Amino acid sequence: MQVPSWLVTGGAGFIGSNFVHSVRREGYARVVNLDKLTYAGHRENLEDLVDDRGYVFVHGDIGDASLVDSLLRDHQPSAIVNFAAESHVDRSIMGPQEFIQTNVVGTHTLLQCALRYWKSLEHGRASDFRFLQVSTDEVYGSLGPHDHPFTEGNQYRPNSPYAASKAAADHLVRAYHETFGLPTLTTNCSNNYGPYQHPEKLIPLMIGNGRSDRPLPVYGDGLQVRDWLYVQDHCDALRLVLERGRAGETYNIGGDCERANLDIVHALCRLLDNAYPQGAPHARLVTHVADRLGHDRRYAIDASKMHRELGWQPRTTFDEGLAYTLRWYAEHADWVAAVSAGAHERWIETNYDNRGSTAVNGGGK
Ligand code: NAD
Ligand code: DAU
Repeated sequence: MQVPSWLVTGGAGFIGSNFVHSVRREGYARVVNLDKLTYAGHRENLEDLVDDRGYVFVHGDIGDASLVDSLLRDHQPSAIVNFAAESHVDRSIMGPQEFIQTNVVGTHTLLQCALRYWKSLEHGRASDFRFLQVSTDEVYGSLGPHDHPFTEGNQYRPNSPYAASKAAADHLVRAYHETFGLPTLTTNCSNNYGPYQHPEKLIPLMIGNGRSDRPLPVYGDGLQVRDWLYVQDHCDALRLVLERGRAGETYNIGGDCERANLDIVHALCRLLDNAYPQGAPHARLVTHVADRLGHDRRYAIDASKMHRELGWQPRTTFDEGLAYTLRWYAEHADWVAAVSAGAHERWIETNYDNRGSTAVNGGGK
């Protein structure tokens, strides 16, 4: 059987690069990776694939319709997997425009191109084609402490500009299925962690700061809860959805692993104490800083549809995943230095330098 081609967008970012690695490792598909290489995208993430004939990198924007049209025409993919996005909530608070441009307008352009392409396919290939929108649990808003985790039936109630832009994109994906029949799939996943996550997100930031004896900045009281999933488990779920998901459906993906931010930070401090006893106790570096505006209090995913319909279960426990992630960052100091140059340092100054440390507050929902 001929190996299919997939157009992956945003494949040079955190989850996208883990996905591309596993797809090529297992040989599921040839991959064309379209990535704009923003501050979050790095060709280094996939440098081991430079000689892989089943992998093509294209530097470009999902909002460039003529480029996307030509990639679809030339590579004839059986699926488009859309990871491309502005993904950092804090950046969306400082400057939402780019989020609207890529997450909403860019995704819509991609949908228009996908529709044109899909309509050009002969019957068998058209019915096999899939457009997979990789989305987030943040579209559902914030849960109270005793609420049931988000199911696929939850109402969309996004609170940050990031979440609102992803929600808008999800609605467009749904509309292209309902109106035009485009065979779409949408996944809403909880917080990922693991190799290649940009150093400005919670876990890599705490690892980096802890290792260099800098403060560990916890927003507000640190009791906000997230549901953590090891990135490879997310990638495995996406492949199953692509291969066996029903067109037009949405699937929630999560780790069934709710943790308060402070618990994450203290777990990392214990791992750091073991690995670098000269810096112990790293918990002395924990610093409460002013809360994120509109900070969602709790996310949690009910992934029973994924378990029931596709037989998916996360395989990595949080303890294993976190310990491995710490080791990975220690062993990839060159990568951290490369992706932390320039823009990252400016971001750290913008987000933290004038934030002020504060008594814990409950500014969130
Ligand atoms: P990331 O920020 O690490 O990577 C985003 C990638 O998209 C980068 O490589 C960037 O260069 C690229 N990109 C940005 N704008 C583009 C454009 N206009 N055209 C082409 N490429 C562009 O993000 P991530 O954490 O890997 O998240 C990937 C996707 O998964 C996002 O859509 C995000 O909403 C979703 N998601 C993330 C998480 C998480 O915990 N990180 C959880 C659930 C869902
Ligand atoms: O829930 C899925 C989402 O998870 C994805 O859609 C997003 O793309 C991804 O970035 C992530 O969003 P979060 O806002 O949850 O991730 P972040 O790593 O930015 O923050 C995790 C939690 O830690 C959040 O409650 C804010 C808090 N935090 C974060 C940073 C960077 C701190 O307390 N201090 C920090 O310095």
